[in-house]
Amino acid sequence: MTEDSTTSETLENLLTEDRRFPPGADFVTQANAHAELYPWAAADPAGFWADQARELLTWQQPFTEVLDWSNPPVARWFADGTLNACYNAVDRHVEAGHGDRVAIHFEGEPGDTRTLTYADLQREVSRAANALTALGVQTGDRVAIYLPMIPEAVVALLACARIGAPHSVVFGGFSAEALHTRIEDADAKLVITADGGYRRGAPSALKPAVDDALAKGPTDVAHVLVVRRTGQDVAWTEGRDVWWHDAVDNASDQHTPVWVEAEHPLFILYTSGTTGKPKGIFHTTGGYLAQCAYSHLNVFDLKPETDVYWCTADVGWVTGHSYIVYGPLTNGATQVMYEGTPDTPGRDRWWEIVEKYRVSILYTAPTAIRTCMKWGEEFPAAHDLSSLRVLGSVGEPINPEAWMWYRRVIGGDRTPIVDTWWQTETGAIMISPLPGVTTLKPGSAQTPLPGIAADVVDDEGHPVPNGGGGYLVLTKPWPAMLRGIWGDLERFKDTYWSRFSGIYFAGDGAKKDEDGDIWLLGRVDDVMNVSGHRLSTTEIESALVSHPSVAEAAVVGATDETTGQAVVAFVILRGGNEEVEGTVAELRAHVAKEIGPIAKPRKILVVQELPKTRSGKIMRRLLRDVAEHRAVGDATTLADASVMDLIAQGIDKPA
Ligand code: WTA
Repeated sequence: MTEDSTTSETLENLLTEDRRFPPGADFVTQANAHAELYPWAAADPAGFWADQARELLTWQQPFTEVLDWSNPPVARWFADGTLNACYNAVDRHVEAGHGDRVAIHFEGEPGDTRTLTYADLQREVSRAANALTALGVQTGDRVAIYLPMIPEAVVALLACARIGAPHSVVFGGFSAEALHTRIEDADAKLVITADGGYRRGAPSALKPAVDDALAKGPTDVAHVLVVRRTGQDVAWTEGRDVWWHDAVDNASDQHTPVWVEAEHPLFILYTSGTTGKPKGIFHTTGGYLAQCAYSHLNVFDLKPETDVYWCTADVGWVTGHSYIVYGPLTNGATQVMYEGTPDTPGRDRWWEIVEKYRVSILYTAPTAIRTCMKWGEEFPAAHDLSSLRVLGSVGEPINPEAWMWYRRVIGGDRTPIVDTWWQTETGAIMISPLPGVTTLKPGSAQTPLPGIAADVVDDEGHPVPNGGGGYLVLTKPWPAMLRGIWGDLERFKDTYWSRFSGIYFAGDGAKKDEDGDIWLLGRVDDVMNVSGHRLSTTEIESALVSHPSVAEAAVVGATDETTGQAVVAFVILRGGNEEVEGTVAELRAHVAKEIGPIAKPRKILVVQELPKTRSGKIMRRLLRDVAEHRAVGDATTLADASVMDLIAQGIDKPA
């Protein structure tokens, strides 16, 4: 399936992984999930999902239709029902008498804290919804959100949902340029931001990026709503900019949610694809919410009365949408929300938080686990982590050694680990063990959840036998599936539905073991995964060539011990431009400006030529060999085979 030599090494390692962890008897007795879910869902998937949607959500107008797949690939789920996502996440818990339950334990990076109960949250979202309406936002209008990890971020998403205004959250690590394209593509009417947030012990500004983004060209944005978090100075555009504390704190705390159809768009979230232009993945309300609630309840074994749940993702990514906002709150969970970095002020900050709030369910990414491994066991060992009972992983394949470390050092050799595979596009978890049911295999996401149909197929789209490898596909529609790419139906069809006819192509390589369990092997397209963040090689290449001194660029994701992959760029300078001291630094800064600091190449190598086939296609596979310090593979199809020698000589020069 892929010529990449590291993939076959990884495969060899994975195939010899034979450690097994059956569920403990105590866990089984109390588990939410049970083995009968699989045959039940397989017998009647649509009926199964209808039961979940009825049981886990409150509908204003109950649905009678379940799945409409008459116009593939656009699915409609529960289409004649109406509901409100914010009502489901907040109000109904208060109405059920749980208003005093803590929804959010907020821990700011400088050490400030806030506690919001479900009743507090109801008042806050009502005020914010009233404020948005007063600022002219109507049902159906799009709102861009560019906020740090503070409670207002959760309130902002929910307030949009409450009035039926789809939100488009842009991660705070993206640049003004990236923000501008996203505001423009979604025709956002309003932007919610903050003066800044705390990162690595210092205030980090956000508002200037919004000002720059809006100065880049005409947009539909009428107002910018600004939360005061750090108190740093901000430039102010009279008439356009409004303080959150003026608009929201003074608004009424009474608000009736707007009931929307199940297929009403809930949000747009941009993600990197294989071309330079990010895709606005959009999700609708009923099916998305049902699958978020169902997966959160069963995969994490959530007990809303007693668990303290913590997902370390940022609200700016899909994990934050589904497993900080919509899943946990719909289930009435108590959760921790942390603003800052794991090593501020010390490398034990996370473990201090686990101990302080008695966190029982922790959901994080392999890159974070590997970073903690590197820092050393003494940091978690200094804290009481005995409250933990379920650990989760998401974002990239977790290598068996990191899995074992996570279980032993963080989970006290006791907790199940759920390795959850899913994507921005799938909206919610698709493949994961079920704690209390599945015998765990370190490094494998194992089984599609009950109700989900996934498979591994070969180049022709035929399922591979157990023991075989190929491409991961999803063979039946699922409730939380994307409904499209905002404003671009053709691209939606091309990207996901044209590789194999009638089935969803995820873009991941995978392998089925002898038991039929699924092992993910990483992307098979031009998408990189750096610290669990999706980045497109093409997007970074376009950013590089937009610099006046760059003629051509090729970007690859090189395997990295900690971050999974790292961005390595090869650039040819335009005629007359010599590499001088500072060229590389300037190009890195240029990428940060065009896309965001997260996309900065770890290494940029200035080269004279790029390896190309006779038809002019850049052979990234060879560049990856160089970037990973391997012997360069088969270069016989190159137009000029000597090119690779020159490039290989350059890679070991200090960056
Ligand atoms: C990768 C994040 C292996 C995969 C929720 C996918 C994983 C991409 C896993 C989606 C996992 C996510 N094991 N790979 N458990 N989880 N991935 O859209 O390549 O940011 O296609 O969604 O991350 O990234 P996205």
